[in-house]
Amino acid sequence: MSDKKRETFGSKLGLIMATAGSALGLGNIYRFPCEAGANGGAAFLIVYLVIALLIGTPLMVAEFVIGRRSKSNPVGAFRCLASAKSAWPLLGYLGVLCAFLILAFYTTVAGWTLGYLGKAAAGHFSGQDLPAIQRQFADFTNHPWLPVVCQLAFLALTAVVVMRGVKDGIERWSKILMPLLLVIMVVLCVKSLTLSGAGEGLAFFFKPDFSKITGRVLISALGQSFFSLSIGMGALITYGSYISRKDNMVSSAVGVTLADTLVAVLAGVIIFPAAFSFGIQPEAGASLAFTTLPMVFQQMTGGYFFCLMFFLLLVIATLTSTISLLEVIVATLTEELHLSRAKSALVGAAGTAVIGVLATLSFRTGSPLHLGSSTVFDLLDHATALYMMPIGGLLIVLFLGWKMNGLRKAIYLIIRYLAPVAIAVIFVSQLLMR
Ligand code: PFF
Repeated sequence: MSDKKRETFGSKLGLIMATAGSALGLGNIYRFPCEAGANGGAAFLIVYLVIALLIGTPLMVAEFVIGRRSKSNPVGAFRCLASAKSAWPLLGYLGVLCAFLILAFYTTVAGWTLGYLGKAAAGHFSGQDLPAIQRQFADFTNHPWLPVVCQLAFLALTAVVVMRGVKDGIERWSKILMPLLLVIMVVLCVKSLTLSGAGEGLAFFFKPDFSKITGRVLISALGQSFFSLSIGMGALITYGSYISRKDNMVSSAVGVTLADTLVAVLAGVIIFPAAFSFGIQPEAGASLAFTTLPMVFQQMTGGYFFCLMFFLLLVIATLTSTISLLEVIVATLTEELHLSRAKSALVGAAGTAVIGVLATLSFRTGSPLHLGSSTVFDLLDHATALYMMPIGGLLIVLFLGWKMNGLRKAIYLIIRYLAPVAIAVIFVSQLLMR
């Protein structure tokens, strides 16, 4: 454990807001609809809700506890809490690697949100029909340098905030802007639900066909809930290490899980009715959010203003997530290698840029950055959400449930028995049911 004075969050609300800032992001608005669309809609939603509430919340508590007890980055945390020569610190390294890989592909889409903020400001969507908006997405992602510049700008922005530290940078931003995003999403929801043909989209999202639940749906929902809640790789161990007092972390974890789930469901309620109404396939993948949303704004009075506000808030929600990812790397570099905060942020961002640019360029048509039919982007996404986070999450609950004492409450029984079994069963079932 480092004996240097560490920063702490100013209040319990600070922890909740920073965690919500980490959790809410592209995972809710971009990735959740993609995954739900590709995995049967309502069937996916139900599995997702069960996993988020039953496994996600306890795992979040587990990470907070590990962070608060060790007051350390993920690597230092396991070294401090496990016996010195055990292999547990490797779990910390797995988390830091996972944060690095997520940040690499996450900033691809983060860059798109920045590009789309520019497009919204320039009024590029006004008066455009669906084919034109689809073409804009294809042109933007195929552009030889624009998405890369947007990605690097986003990474630079993240590094600047992280350099300023936990309280000034992370806590203050999260507190003000997250509630505003929710307001805009509710407005969008109302609009989407009143589009003609919205009912079909609602049925897709809410009427389950249980025969669609396969091993693939289970692991996708598990991966999505871990990704969306930022768990299974040490981001919340890091944030937990900045908790100063004996605050009730269970209520914080429940609050964040509910808020995160609400935003993901809202995103579904905005995107699926609108997609069906405009004739966009729910399996459209990457383009789903980036074509559906501008189309919804087109149909609204004051669409220009709402579109601009939406992309501005999406950029900010994404930024509070990239901050938490870079913070994992920075906390580890400052405490393990004794680099300064500024140097750590620069090294972390520069390293991410190298892999991240490959992920961004892999979207171009005809790009050689593929392995089989998967792009570098998909590979990073799948490696982290479908493998590293479930394995990391499993080991974290096993560590807290079986290696640490003093755990009594019901939530710890879940951490000890239910969560490990559930994660292991889902993980193995998808390997067997290919
Ligand atoms: N939870 C974020 C989202 O849903 O967009 C993504 C993320 C952030 C994953 C931070 C992991 C993490 F540590």
